[in-house]
Amino acid sequence: MLKRTVVCRDVTEEKLSEKVVVNGWVQGKRNLGGLLFFDIRDRSGIVQVVFDPDKVSEEKFKLARSVKTESVVGISGTVQKRVSENPNLKTGKVEIIVEDMEIFSMSEDLPFNPFSDQETDETVRLKYRYRDLRKPEVRKVFELRAKIANSIRQFLISEGFIETETPYLTKSTPEGARDFLVPSRLNRGKFYALPQSPQLFKQILMVGGFEKYFQFARCFRDEDLRQDRQPEFTQIDMEMSFVEQEDILSLTERMFKKVFSEVMGEEIKIPFERMRYSEAMRRFGSDKPDLRYGMEIHDLTESFKNSASNLIRKNVENGNKVLALFLEGGAELSRKEVENLKERVKQEGLEGFIDIKIKNYELKSSFAKFISEEEKRAMFSVANDNSLAMLFLTDPKKGFELVGRVRMILAKKFGLIPKNVWKFLWITDFPFFSFNEEEGRYEAEHHPFTMPNPEDLEKLETDKDNVRAIAYDLVLNGNELGGGSIRIHNPELQKRVFKAIGLSEEDAEKKFGFLLKALKLGAPPHGGIAFGFDRIVWLLSGANSLRDVIAFPKTTSGISPLTDAPSEVSESQLEELGIEVKKKNE
Ligand code: AMO
Repeated sequence: MLKRTVVCRDVTEEKLSEKVVVNGWVQGKRNLGGLLFFDIRDRSGIVQVVFDPDKVSEEKFKLARSVKTESVVGISGTVQKRVSENPNLKTGKVEIIVEDMEIFSMSEDLPFNPFSDQETDETVRLKYRYRDLRKPEVRKVFELRAKIANSIRQFLISEGFIETETPYLTKSTPEGARDFLVPSRLNRGKFYALPQSPQLFKQILMVGGFEKYFQFARCFRDEDLRQDRQPEFTQIDMEMSFVEQEDILSLTERMFKKVFSEVMGEEIKIPFERMRYSEAMRRFGSDKPDLRYGMEIHDLTESFKNSASNLIRKNVENGNKVLALFLEGGAELSRKEVENLKERVKQEGLEGFIDIKIKNYELKSSFAKFISEEEKRAMFSVANDNSLAMLFLTDPKKGFELVGRVRMILAKKFGLIPKNVWKFLWITDFPFFSFNEEEGRYEAEHHPFTMPNPEDLEKLETDKDNVRAIAYDLVLNGNELGGGSIRIHNPELQKRVFKAIGLSEEDAEKKFGFLLKALKLGAPPHGGIAFGFDRIVWLLSGANSLRDVIAFPKTTSGISPLTDAPSEVSESQLEELGIEVKKKNE
């Protein structure tokens, strides 16, 4: 094998007249004045090589002419000065005059343009994923991914954490999504579940005396996919014993400070800002507010309850809210632009809005005549001049969330989001329960192993809407990076919580008997958190989608175009597992 002595990027003037061997892909091919030029590319960069019919054998020259782009070759030769320099390349002042070439693999005609950025069909891109991975800008993301992983791992090890794997073939533990099931050949009719997270195992590691555990854990969730979700993703999962919420928050802050400093070369400020869930919902209509821009939601219901407008007054009388957003600079929008905004807002499930322009602290709107001095004062106390007031008459329950979505849409549309700003935020005091409208029952908002706030314990059975959890999420620029909680370590309380989410004692025993037993046999107080590693890389790399930071991602329909998974299996495989597949409409 013509084994490389130097990587492409290092073939520079320093190597003039030296004999070198490079290995790589044939990126470009040019014929010029009887000479043949290749650009050879490896991970480090690109170098030009020249075939001169006077310097290589006739056979090699012929072979070189037949080489297709993206073939993989070894080239040996001598470094010489280039006639026409290429200032864009580190190696642009020199070239290798070829003496020998070995073809490691001849590429077929390519079913894609290897360098086009125009390819938009993602299925095609994922089918030939190695094409994208060959691109330096794509690979950079994975270099960053590895650096972040390394920085975090070093930090946690230095803090005394033990890295441990937990099973992939396990029993289902509820995290809110559906499980991926794996049939068992040895135990016909029984199924493993792929873990949605290592939640119960990490708690049991605490019972096992590990005190500090972490893992880069693969998690599997059969849920509807979105831009920020994959069915298979990686968590940085951790758990600690003898800690309170404060310890976990502060450890996290130090961890991110180190990662940003080492990997991004940026000093971020800690401690991070904090906000209670209730405040986040009230001010931003979201449990992961993006604090890079303002435009908070203002609840003007009280000020407008005696409105001269029948429409507003009736809405308030019926229990609806008057929520306002003030779009800065919005007073300049044309009639048509405002109408378009109303149409856009309707797509979010709102019924448009009442629009009032504020110009020189005067109201400009056909609606202005209905607005009293007091109502005007209420608006001016929170609005800037030259803005567009948007009054939404909404349902009191869903309104904040819907208007919160409009806030994000406006921020994107009007370019209100500053670049290169990192806004970390802790959301704390989550509600313990959420009401599942479809199933008509309460379920745990985080998971049922979360510690309810001790002050709210007596409400567990009687006032579920007002029980808070000792649970926290970390948000960065409007994205949920991670979440965790202090856990229940008292088996009686755990049983009580299972009961409160409608799990019978029998079912609780069947599903979680092993946890309840462990809690009875020496469980320390403990808590933890898990971060979406892919999401961290996504945000730090500035990549377009979560898929761009995963080497082999799935499409939004959960398919891998590269391998064609999921696929049918043979009759004999099914037979062995005792499984019969029903036809679709059976
Ligand atoms: P949670 O379900 O909040 O918590 O998950 C933790 C973090 O994992 C990331 N994440 C995802 N990333 C990509 N694709 C997905 N489908 C996906 N789902 C979640 C998010 C999220 O914040 N066991 C608990 C943690 C704990 O309590 O310690 C858990 O899994 O960034």
